[in-house]
Amino acid sequence: MLWDVGQDWKIEDVELDEPGPGEIIVKTKAAGLCHSDEHMVQGDMAIRNSDMEAMGLPPMFPIIGGHEGSGEVIQLGPGVTSVAVGDHVAASFIPSCGRCRWCSTGQQNLCDLGAKVFEPGMITDGRVAHHIGGAEAGALAKLGTFSEHMLLSENSVVKVDSDYGWGPAALVSCGVSTGWGSAVHRAEVETGDTVVVIGIGGIGANAVQGARMAGAKRIVAIDPVEFKREKAMEFGATHTFSSLEEATPAISEMTWGQNADKVIITVGLVEGDMIAPAMAVVRKGGTLVVTSVANMMATDVQLSLFDLAMMNKEIKGTIFGSGNPRFDIPNLLSLYREGQLQLDELITKTYTLDDINQGYQDMRDGTNIRGVILFD
Ligand SMILES: NC(=O)c1ccc[n+]([C@@H]2O[C@H](COP(=O)([O-])OP(=O)(O)OC[C@H]3O[C@@H](n4cnc5c(N)ncnc54)[C@H](O)[C@@H]3O)[C@@H](O)[C@H]2O)c1
Ligand SMILES: [Zn+2]
Ligand SMILES: [Zn+2]
Repeated sequence: MLWDVGQDWKIEDVELDEPGPGEIIVKTKAAGLCHSDEHMVQGDMAIRNSDMEAMGLPPMFPIIGGHEGSGEVIQLGPGVTSVAVGDHVAASFIPSCGRCRWCSTGQQNLCDLGAKVFEPGMITDGRVAHHIGGAEAGALAKLGTFSEHMLLSENSVVKVDSDYGWGPAALVSCGVSTGWGSAVHRAEVETGDTVVVIGIGGIGANAVQGARMAGAKRIVAIDPVEFKREKAMEFGATHTFSSLEEATPAISEMTWGQNADKVIITVGLVEGDMIAPAMAVVRKGGTLVVTSVANMMATDVQLSLFDLAMMNKEIKGTIFGSGNPRFDIPNLLSLYREGQLQLDELITKTYTLDDINQGYQDMRDGTNIRGVILFD
């Protein structure tokens, strides 16, 4: 649990209500250490309690962390029909109602229920159902995969076959879907493309895999950490560089001056001054996909507006790799089963919940592609 920006994760006892209509309790089995939770700690994606109070708004903390995970359904509230006790599920940080405009047009990553993730209380009826010492405990993305049990809406889980390992089932719930989808769905990588992936963590490694599976001719992986560059080659990269600056002349040379068809930004924190140099390696008519999270208050971007129009380029954001959780999660697991997608290789190190702060320190130190917490 996180009590404010800048603090360590703390282990606390949280009391859960009985599941209400449309709600379930899941016994968590594995949780991935995604950088998005780190953004809560660093204050990129969260506002200090004192600042919220000054604005007359309710605090964001305390909050149960974790939005990437898998587990087993152990209890059903009234009227739950999509899962049964004993089912294995992957958490989905974007819930899918199946009925809104976005869900019904194949854009479940934009489900209207997603907005409720930032409101207090349960997605289902808004009531406070997680309690810590008489106060409300929030849950990140209305999941909270860093806890032994999760009380959540049935719309926030996707059933998966029970023969998959808990680790792989956890990873497809955020990092794999987001990275793979950034390349396949959002950048729309095509056979023969030259693709550049900037930042090789849990997300970037899967953007590399997505680009490889979509038939890219060259995949240029960029990361300052040597271990990340070595891993990128294992996931399908054809070239690696330690910085975009170093890669820029090489990308031009390898493409006879045309530059990259698709560039995908998957660094830990994207900042406005990264956009112009990334756009500079996008070819005429090419695409830049921004997957990384920026500080929520940041609005300044450096960009050649002249080139944007005159070179017919585009910049696209993406959430959940622009995929549909209810299709993409089982689909990615089936690609893993068929030997086409590497999931076990993404898990560099496993931790117990007690070691969560060490897990995040290892992310900061660049020693993991993905760290995963395993529960009993
Ligand atoms: N859009 C979405 O739906 C979505 C979902 C999940 C995560 N994210 C975001 O994606 C980003 C990546 O997450 P992650 O879990 O893979 O993080 P990570 O920390 O595991 O990996 C980030 C990598 O970027 C590298 N890096 C940092 N600065 C760099 C630079 N200037 N040039 C090249 N490489 C650089 C780091 O060495 C590291 O290997 C985060 O911002 C995260 O919040 C977005
Ligand atoms: Zn994530
Ligand atoms: Zn919906």
